[in-house]
Amino acid sequence: MTLDLKPIAKLPLGHFPTPLERLDRLSDFLGGPEIWIKRDDCTGLAFGGNKTRKLEYLLADAREKNADAIITFGALQSNHVRQTIAACAKADIECHAVLSDLVPFDDPVYRRSGNLLIDHMSKAHIHKLAADQDAKQKLKHLLSELQSQSKTVYVIPPGGSSPTGVLGYVSAALEIGQQCERQNIRFDAVVHASATGGTQIGLSIGCRFVSQETPILGVNVYSTDPAAFEERIANLTTEVMSELKMEQRPALQFVHGFVGDGYGMPTEAMKEAVLTTFQLEGILLDPVYTGKAMAGLFDLCRKKLYSKSDKILFVHTGGAPGLFAYESALMNHNINRD
Ligand SMILES: Cc1ncc(COP(=O)(O)O)c(C=O)c1O
Repeated sequence: MTLDLKPIAKLPLGHFPTPLERLDRLSDFLGGPEIWIKRDDCTGLAFGGNKTRKLEYLLADAREKNADAIITFGALQSNHVRQTIAACAKADIECHAVLSDLVPFDDPVYRRSGNLLIDHMSKAHIHKLAADQDAKQKLKHLLSELQSQSKTVYVIPPGGSSPTGVLGYVSAALEIGQQCERQNIRFDAVVHASATGGTQIGLSIGCRFVSQETPILGVNVYSTDPAAFEERIANLTTEVMSELKMEQRPALQFVHGFVGDGYGMPTEAMKEAVLTTFQLEGILLDPVYTGKAMAGLFDLCRKKLYSKSDKILFVHTGGAPGLFAYESALMNHNINRD
């Protein structure tokens, strides 16, 4: 079975294919398996990240629907919002970003630096909400305001995780498949950060067209309620399958236990993963998504779930601008390596 993405409109926004590399020093540090990385932090759009791939499909769809304005959502340090703002700049579409102050991380830098600084450098309309303010209510209000100006509005859900956005990661899986063929590699598992679920669903669908067997492990970095997290992603999968007219449900596999006290809240395991990956490989992860996902991967390796010669692919989904918002958590932090 194949899925032909060619006829689906796509607006070029990023640098593709992103590199696929072996991390020798990190693999040695963990004592095996072989760790590889897919550098989707290098997609190029305003510091890059996984949303670039989704936005290529989303903004093309918005253009086809003659949209004059985009509305999207995220937390104050949303990487999705940063990339959406950049994509709208390039596509010359008015952008409205609703940013909710959801994360109870108590550091003033969190509320002015990192992704937020970049958002404020743009011409986008930034609408900040307190944690108890309803984003859906704000959406209603913005929609009626923009429609009263005769504007056609295209709404992008949090994380860009609509069926159209998911196509970005179906296409990423096909790209990984081509690189594997060229480099003669077969991965025993793929590990990545999962939040709104679009990346996980896209990879899980796309990988089925490449290799039936490779498990795609989404590390939950979003919810302290594993059952609710899985149910939400299962519901989105059903929506995607119906939109893409797919019959075979992709297998979704989850890794829980790495979100800590909640979305965006630092953990010791995240700090170890972020600092170790930078100190050994010179690669910057982020505190909210990829740091926690890499902590999950460290744990799987330490539990000896894989043999020394197995090959595990970590998909780096970006987010490094968020490091600057977590100065107090990361500055002068020592790793306990005993
Ligand atoms: C850096 C980074 N990694 C991973 C994710 C998770 O992707 P998804 O929302 O598609 O699950 C996001 C966004 O939510 C992100 O910004």
